Amino acid sequence: MQIASLKDMYIAELQELVSVEEQLTEALGRMAVVASHPALKDALMHHREETQVQQQRLEAILQQYGADVRAHIDQSMQALLNETEKMFAILQGGDLRDAGLIASAQKIEHYEMAAYGTAAALAGQLDLRNDQRMLHDSLEEERRADALLTKLAKAEVNYDALAA
Ligand SMILES: [Fe+2]
Repeated sequence: MQIASLKDMYIAELQELVSVEEQLTEALGRMAVVASHPALKDALMHHREETQVQQQRLEAILQQYGADVRAHIDQSMQALLNETEKMFAILQGGDLRDAGLIASAQKIEHYEMAAYGTAAALAGQLDLRNDQRMLHDSLEEERRADALLTKLAKAEVNYDALAA
C-alpha cells in the first residue's frame, strides 16, 4: 500500500493502534491470571477494561472515515508480547514473576504512549479536534496505568522480589 497524504498516514497509524489494543486486551487477561500480588492483578484487569474502551474509540474514529478497522496486525506489539511470554516461562517464583510482569507491561505502555502521542499530534495537525480529544483521553489512561505500575513496583513488588 502506498500512502500519499498525512491524512492517510494518520489513518494507517490508527489502524496499527487498533491492532495494538486488540492484542493487548487478550494479553492483559493472561498477565492478570499469572500475577500473584492482588494489587497488580487488579491494576492489570482495570487496564484491560480501559484497553477495550480505547479499542472502541479507535474503531469509532476509523469508521467515520470509512476505513477498515482490521487492516493491519501490529508486529511491534506481537514482538513485545512474545518477549513477555518468554519472561513468564523463565522467571521462577511469584514475586519475581510479578516484577517481570511489571517490567514487560511498562515497555508496552511506553510503546502505546508513543503511538498515541503521535496519533494525537497528527490529529491536531489535521485539525481533527474531536479525534485529538479522544486520542488524548487514551494517552492519559496509558500514562496513569504506567504511573500505577511504577508505584506498585517501588512500593511493593520489587521489594518482595528482592527478598525472595
Ligand atoms: Fe491502550
